Amino acid sequence: MMIQIKQTAQLLRNCRRLVVLTGAGVSKESGVPTFRDAMDGLWAQFDPAQLATPQAFQAHPKRVWDWYEYRRDLVRQAHPNPGHFALAELERRVPQFILVTQNVDDLHEQAGSQRILHLHGKIAQNKCFFNCQGDPTLIDLDRSQSAWIDGVPACPHCGRWVRPDVVWFGEVLPLDILHEAAEASRDCDLMLVIGTAGLVDPAGSLPRVAKQAGAQVIEINPDHSAITRYADIKIDGPSGEVMPAVIKAMDHAR
Ligand code: APR
Repeated sequence: MMIQIKQTAQLLRNCRRLVVLTGAGVSKESGVPTFRDAMDGLWAQFDPAQLATPQAFQAHPKRVWDWYEYRRDLVRQAHPNPGHFALAELERRVPQFILVTQNVDDLHEQAGSQRILHLHGKIAQNKCFFNCQGDPTLIDLDRSQSAWIDGVPACPHCGRWVRPDVVWFGEVLPLDILHEAAEASRDCDLMLVIGTAGLVDPAGSLPRVAKQAGAQVIEINPDHSAITRYADIKIDGPSGEVMPAVIKAMDHAR
C-alpha cells in the first residue's frame, strides 16, 4: 500500500486539474449510516429503496418524512473525520480542484472544503414537493413553517407538501450540477474516487468519463467496486487513514 500512496502523492503534486468523487464510504468513519445501516429499530421493517422514492412519499408522506427526520438526527451528531480534513487540505494544494459528492451530509463543508457539487442534494435542506415557485423551491422551515399537512410541513407558498432536498431513486439529478460535474470530469487530468460502490448512475459513470478523456483514475476503497477494474491505482484502505497518509507523502515527494 505504501507504493500506491507514494505514486498517488506524486501524481497529486503534479496535478493541475483534480476532480474528487466521494460516496458514503468517506462518511463511514464519522458514523454516518448508509441507507442500509440506517434501517435499525423502528425502521428495520422497511426497504430503503421503497422509502426513498417520489411514489413512496406520495403514498406515505408522513412515513417518509419521519424517516428523513431520523436520518437527519444521525447526520447532525456526526463530525468530519481525517479523510474529510485531508480533502480540504488537498483543495489548498491543487490549482484547480472540484469535489463531487454523492453524500447528502455536510461533512465536507464542515471540514473546510470550498468547491463542492452535491449530486444527490442536501439532507439538511427542504423544498416544495411540487416546486411551486420553480425548480427547486427551497423552503427554510425554521423561518417559515407553521402549518402541517398529512403529517409533513406545509409549503408556505402553496400549502402542499414539503420534502427533503435529496435526489430519490427514479429522479433526475439537478441538471446544472450534473453538467458541471461531467464537464469537470472531462477536463481533469486526475480523478480521485473515494468510498463509492460506483453502482448508481450517473455519478458512478463519471470516473469512466474522466478515464475516456485521458485522465488517470485513482481509487481509495477497502473493498472492490465497479470502478476498481479500470482504476490506474487502487489503494485498499479506509479514507480516514489513507487520505492523511497521502497528504503526508505529498510533503515528502520530490
Ligand atoms: N473508506 C473508503 N471507502 C469505504 C469505507 C471507508 N472507510 N467504508 C466503506 N467504504 C466503501 C464501500 O466498500 C463501498 O464501496 O464505500 C462504498 C459505499 O458504497 P454505497 O453505500 O453504495 O455508497 P455510494 O456509492 O455513495 O452510494 C451511491 O446510492 O444509496 C444511494 O443515493 C444514495 O448517494 C447514494 C448512492
